[in-house]
Amino acid sequence: MSTKISTGVKLSAAAILLVSLAACGGGGGKKITGRELLDAPMEVSTVYKVSCVSCHGTDLQGRIGPNTNLQKIGERLSKEEIAKQIENGSEGMQPFKDTLTAEEIDGLATWLAGKK
Ligand code: HEC
Repeated sequence: MSTKISTGVKLSAAAILLVSLAACGGGGGKKITGRELLDAPMEVSTVYKVSCVSCHGTDLQGRIGPNTNLQKIGERLSKEEIAKQIENGSEGMQPFKDTLTAEEIDGLATWLAGKK
């Protein structure tokens, strides 16, 4: 029961964020979800849209420089390296080990490692 409630809260937070992103996108009918997100399990793409999209973009294209393009990340980094990056962050990226569950980080890393 309590799990259900917290999932509901999470999802509506995601919905609010998406609405506000869409509102300031200014691109008219621009789609919020790019092709690169289509192969992600639903819960993974939800986490991505809440926690990562602001810097890495709706299509993994990267919004704050070439280092933030993740479209071919699986060619450069292993799943373990990607999980480490998400957990610990780096110069321009905050660590997520306290805000995401191990399961969420694993889901993101598995999905991103497949991007080749
Ligand atoms: C505040 C902006 C920001 C957010 C939010 C963010 N990142 Fe990043 N990320 C960066 C930057 C900037 C880099 C490039 C390395 C650097 O300069 O620190 C990066 C690098 C990465 C890399 C390594 C890329 C490479 O080529 O080595 C991965 C993987 C990554 N981010 C995944 C994620 C995931 C998954 C999330 C969501 C949980 C996320 N990031 C959220 C800014 C962000």
